[in-house]
Amino acid sequence: LTQEEKQILLNAIRDVQDFPKEGIVFKDITTLLNDKKAFNLLMSHLEKRYKEYNLDYVAGIDSRGFIFGAALADRLNIGFVPVRKKGKLPSTTVCEKYELEYGFDEVEIHLDAFHGKTNARVLLIDDLLATGGTANASAKLIKNVKADLVEACFLLNLTFLNGKQRVEQHTPVYTILDV
Ligand code: PRP
Ligand code: ADE
Ligand code: MG
Repeated sequence: LTQEEKQILLNAIRDVQDFPKEGIVFKDITTLLNDKKAFNLLMSHLEKRYKEYNLDYVAGIDSRGFIFGAALADRLNIGFVPVRKKGKLPSTTVCEKYELEYGFDEVEIHLDAFHGKTNARVLLIDDLLATGGTANASAKLIKNVKADLVEACFLLNLTFLNGKQRVEQHTPVYTILDV
């Protein structure tokens, strides 16, 4: 992407002050999704990058990662796998606990999400990388079910939280907008 194209994406993301609590600047991607030019620019870029990767699946993180992940999987003509917050997946799952700012949460994946195929080539995708806690736990899940996690991809990287350094310990990371 050129600097001008990155600026189009940045301009399409809305900053909301003090959501969900005071002091947080929330990066709102709904204004990118309803902007057909920006959404198309993003998806075309992702398609171009990842069509060279020989992927078998895109795994998207609940819930904003579902939007970009499912759209990308369809463009690449491959399957989509949801990584969900605990208690939402109906069949047999594996779980991973992770730390939030206050307390803990859990993500899950179906044990047979990659059809019991070993070494399936998987891309993990989410809208935003903050502390990296969610992405770390999701990466562990993909590895636990014996898939090959090729890369983790994020539209936005909140650089001041250093999540990229955490995730890069175990997985290649691609971020489009570093803010
Ligand atoms: C947000 C964002 C990432 C995660 C990043 O999701 O979409 O998934 O936080 O934070 P981290 O790097 O510190 O783990 P959120 O849990 O708010 O849920 P949502 O996607 O369902 O809105
Ligand atoms: N998830 C974690 N931090 C966030 C932020 N500042 N904006 C949007 N989603 C987030
Ligand atoms: Mg999320």
